[in-house]
Amino acid sequence: MKALVLSGGRGTRLRPITHTRAKQLIPVANQPVLFYGLKAIAEAGIKEVGIVVGETHEEIESAVGNGKKFGLQVSYIQQAEPLGLAHAVLISKKFLGNEPFVMYLGDNLLKSGIKKFVEQFNKEKAHAGILLARVKNPSSFGVAELKGDRVKRLVEKPKKPKSDLALVGVYIFDQTIHTAVRAIKPSSRGELEITDAIQWLIDHGKKVRFSVVDGWWKDTGKVEDLLEANRMILDELEPKVLGKVDASSKIEFRVRIEKGAVVKNSRILGPAVIGAGTLIENSYIGPFTAIAENCKVKNAEIEHSIIMAESRIENISRRLSDSLVGRNTRISCSKQKPGALRLIIGDSSEVELV
Ligand code: G1P
Repeated sequence: MKALVLSGGRGTRLRPITHTRAKQLIPVANQPVLFYGLKAIAEAGIKEVGIVVGETHEEIESAVGNGKKFGLQVSYIQQAEPLGLAHAVLISKKFLGNEPFVMYLGDNLLKSGIKKFVEQFNKEKAHAGILLARVKNPSSFGVAELKGDRVKRLVEKPKKPKSDLALVGVYIFDQTIHTAVRAIKPSSRGELEITDAIQWLIDHGKKVRFSVVDGWWKDTGKVEDLLEANRMILDELEPKVLGKVDASSKIEFRVRIEKGAVVKNSRILGPAVIGAGTLIENSYIGPFTAIAENCKVKNAEIEHSIIMAESRIENISRRLSDSLVGRNTRISCSKQKPGALRLIIGDSSEVELV
């Protein structure tokens, strides 16, 4: 079995971060989201992976390389335009051949991995396997309508969903899917939808199996989802102090401090992770915070946030909370009068004063 990992897309719901960075490389607990998926694929015993890339191909390729660090053999498939998930299958036919494959959307995170899902598919010999999860906002996903132990209908982002069962972004297909993706027409958003291709399989009497995920699942397409995923991963963090912590600092609960990080006169209340080469001084880092490598946090308080690499947060008088801070960002406070807000921020940014 091979795997097809989808890492294209424009990440419009995560702007401005995605103006300069692939959404699949946004860190969750200091690791790119995509890496969790690649690890899950390797754990399921799959070796050959094709990553479908778009505009951000250079960045993805430099982060993943040939896949050796994950125990995988990775090749790249260029999708000239984001024309849909089924279109990604269409252009990957040469790589996939006639073997069954796992299709994994690169911004999805699954706690329990995909090993069981792959084993079950191999046992059942179906044409397709889908994973479902109960969600509060089904209209944001592909939604399944079941009848007994069968999938009756799948609808992509329905206005009036018939159930709360969302399609998780992990699928398994045999070669029948290649006929389906050639048969369907683009949806109203102009994309060839994988949801429509699976519906085509159902309509043509093919066997489509489903299972409902155990453990949590997250599609990290929005800021709140990224923060929630960060929370979930940090919650299971193995605490370890590899950096330097001085005697006047206090480290409580589950905290990981990477090599080369320095903590001076600060309190870190986990779960939290501090990246390599980062300095935390005279500060408070609260629960569910991930601060990436080579950051500087001085005279500041941060909690429930993701701070990306090389950023500087200094002398701020209010606690930073529920925030996603991009790379190489600077947040500071000056004592000048009159008091005011001075902002130099990119397109589609969001600033909320609470
Ligand atoms: C895609 C699929 C949708 C699925 C979702 C899961 O949506 O089209 O059916 O429920 O992934 O992450 P997208 O995130 O591309 O809008």
